[in-house]
Amino acid sequence: MIKKIKSFFNTVFKKHKTDSDEMETKNFYGQDESEIPGYTPDHIIFCDGLVKIYKSKDTEVVALQGLELEIKKGEMMAIIGNSGSGKSTLMNLIGGLDVPSAGTLIVDGENLLRMKKSELLRYKKEKVGFVWQNNARNLIPYLPAIHNVEIPMILAGRKDAKKRAAELLDLMGLKDRMKNRLSQLSGGEQQRVAIAIAMANDPKILLADEPTGAVDTATAALIYNIFRKLNTEYGVTIIIVTHDRAISKNVDRVVTIEDGRTGSEYIKKKSYKEQIMELDRMTGVEESETHEEMIVVDRQGRLKIPEEYLELAKIPNNSKVRIKMEEEKIVIYTEEKDEE
Ligand SMILES: Nc1ncnc2c1ncn2[C@@H]1O[C@H](COP(=O)(O)OP(=O)(O)O)[C@@H](O)[C@H]1O
Ligand SMILES: [Mg+2]
Repeated sequence: MIKKIKSFFNTVFKKHKTDSDEMETKNFYGQDESEIPGYTPDHIIFCDGLVKIYKSKDTEVVALQGLELEIKKGEMMAIIGNSGSGKSTLMNLIGGLDVPSAGTLIVDGENLLRMKKSELLRYKKEKVGFVWQNNARNLIPYLPAIHNVEIPMILAGRKDAKKRAAELLDLMGLKDRMKNRLSQLSGGEQQRVAIAIAMANDPKILLADEPTGAVDTATAALIYNIFRKLNTEYGVTIIIVTHDRAISKNVDRVVTIEDGRTGSEYIKKKSYKEQIMELDRMTGVEESETHEEMIVVDRQGRLKIPEEYLELAKIPNNSKVRIKMEEEKIVIYTEEKDEE
């Protein structure tokens, strides 16, 4: 039955056909990344069937249950989900702070499930920068901002630490504040120092976990502008996880996460440049006007119908429906309609 449905969708969503076809013939956990179905070199992040289980003495929490996610190099995107949906877990896995329990996780061509401890250490230093909601705890309050940025670079053995730290703080709009002690800076300014530190070792990916959770709206806008600058001028891939749906206007694509699985996607209808041009008119624009909702057909050919649609069509959860192909459209019938 599942096979049937799968081939059914495959005829409609033709481009998925090759992916699932390959899946049956190639080794899922193959040694060569190029052998992994669906993975291409322009993916900076590729998750498939990603599982994370937290085990303690008598409990087991499945935080990620077979998550699929594809992010292309140079994207600036967000992952939205309620508290407990698995956002931080996913960030920690991508950042190499924790290891997956099963599945596929490839970041910038490196397979995180086959990494030795020493490789993981190098990976963390080289590939990713982290921005958290409350970064101040990682900063040294009695040192000037510039030293806070310089120190991690000195530790990493960079010779141009001072110059680079000054450049980064300038980029963050903190040129006039860099000699101030951290304790003399506002929360928003401290957050920008933290972003400079995250950028210190030229990471390819910036992972931001609720980066604006503790700042006001104006500061949040400033932080998003900095992210955009890092994205367009330095080509850094930016991934922001948040529970705040308003994030969508700041990114090109939003993926939803629920119970450790990704769901629907919102893709920006206009390019960022086009949008900047009409920025004045942007205030108060509804999400639906800027983004188009896409439902993802996953690698197994499953798709999740949004709750609102099910409600409108009066389809209860855990019920059976019929689907038919009508003039190149897939139509879902509830039991009642079908009997008419
Ligand atoms: N270290 C841990 N040990 C046990 N359970 C955890 C741990 N970290 C997270 N969890 C659980 O995993 C689930 C996902 O958590 P998390 O990734 O922090 O969600 P989010 O960031 O979306 O709020 C939650 O049920 C949470 O309680
Ligand atoms: Mg979290």
